[in-house]
Amino acid sequence: MTNIFDTRNRPLRDLRISVTDRCNFRCSYCMPKEIFGVDYPFMSKDEILSFEEIVRLAKLFAKIGVEKIRLTGGEPLLRKDLPILVKRLSKIEGIKYVTLTTNGVFLAKNAKALKEAGICRVNVSLDSLEDKVFMKINNMNMSVSTVLNGIFAAREAGLEVKVNMVVKKGLNDTEVLPMVRFLKEKNITLRFIEYMDVGCTNGWNFKDVISKKQLFDMIQEQYQLEPIEQDYIGEVAKRYRYKGTNTEVGFISSVTETFCGSCTRARLSTNGKLYTCLFASEGYDLSELLRSGVSDKYILATIQSIWEKRDERYSEIRTEESHKNRKIEMSYIGG
Ligand code: GTP
Ligand code: 5AD
Ligand code: SF4
Ligand code: SF4
Repeated sequence: MTNIFDTRNRPLRDLRISVTDRCNFRCSYCMPKEIFGVDYPFMSKDEILSFEEIVRLAKLFAKIGVEKIRLTGGEPLLRKDLPILVKRLSKIEGIKYVTLTTNGVFLAKNAKALKEAGICRVNVSLDSLEDKVFMKINNMNMSVSTVLNGIFAAREAGLEVKVNMVVKKGLNDTEVLPMVRFLKEKNITLRFIEYMDVGCTNGWNFKDVISKKQLFDMIQEQYQLEPIEQDYIGEVAKRYRYKGTNTEVGFISSVTETFCGSCTRARLSTNGKLYTCLFASEGYDLSELLRSGVSDKYILATIQSIWEKRDERYSEIRTEESHKNRKIEMSYIGG
């Protein structure tokens, strides 16, 4: 294995692979229904990377430092036979963890197979415990209990589970403390995500962001929190423990306390484009290379040279205006 570094001396360690651009939810902050309607041109089957193509690329990424793969979407469990892909990825030399970020709806059905295939952890998105609020967010009449069933099934199957909650002012900020109380009681890690200006369709406004500090103060009024050491270099969440327990709560403060300095993540879109930042506007089309018959050596050299030119640190240089720039959508790149 060779370590490669970008222009800011950041190694390549994580690969987030989006396996589908489709989702069964229409969260207003990610895939607003007005834009992602019935006529939305999702990718066709032949545009999407096949399992063989994904595995071929993952093997190359592992050769230059990638240790962790996170499968995302859209909703990754909408991709047929996902456990088969997981199994192949987890066998790759150098890959220590294969993880998944999901909305949890199909988790109850898939948890056991995913665990057997080699998934070690799942991050489940859940933004409210109230059906009324949750349905207003997912816009698909999906109930909280479906997601909770998925979470419990995953735990039952032996998967480590974290819950991600995006907090948007006026939408679900009243749900912060109920979520804390419930997940603390169940000994499940909850991570709050500051509402981000990803993509161009969610109408992001800084006024709608509830900062890590506000969230922290809100929780600290009821529970004492003590900081925990980072789990790994480049971890996006700042982690705390409720005093006197081993239950954790984390904050992903990508708007108010950025973490670009230690960002070791590359992202592969469903159609095989490589992005070196969540906020990038352009990706490098690896699928074209894969399908042109060039050698692994050539593809590897291409990926290496892209990473070595990498300079991105969007969150650090974000301004009130920069959210208006053209950026890829979150559902396309998987967050
Ligand atoms: P683990 O630490 O392994 O649990 O994974 P993770 O936190 O990297 O993954 P997850 O998919 O749960 O991401 C949680 C949130 O963090 C999502 O909203 C992501 O978009 C956000 N996030 C993850 N990586 C980055 C990043 O590089 N930059 C920014 N700005 N946000 C990120
Ligand atoms: N801001 C912050 N987080 C977001 N997510 C989706 N859209 C946004 C946004 N605009 C979250 C999802 C999921 C994770 C991958 O990204 O809820 O938990
Ligand atoms: Fe919601 Fe995740 Fe689907 Fe986006 S990809 S619409 S955040 S469930
Ligand atoms: Fe990495 Fe870009 Fe996020 Fe910064 S904004 S942490 S460079 S993905």
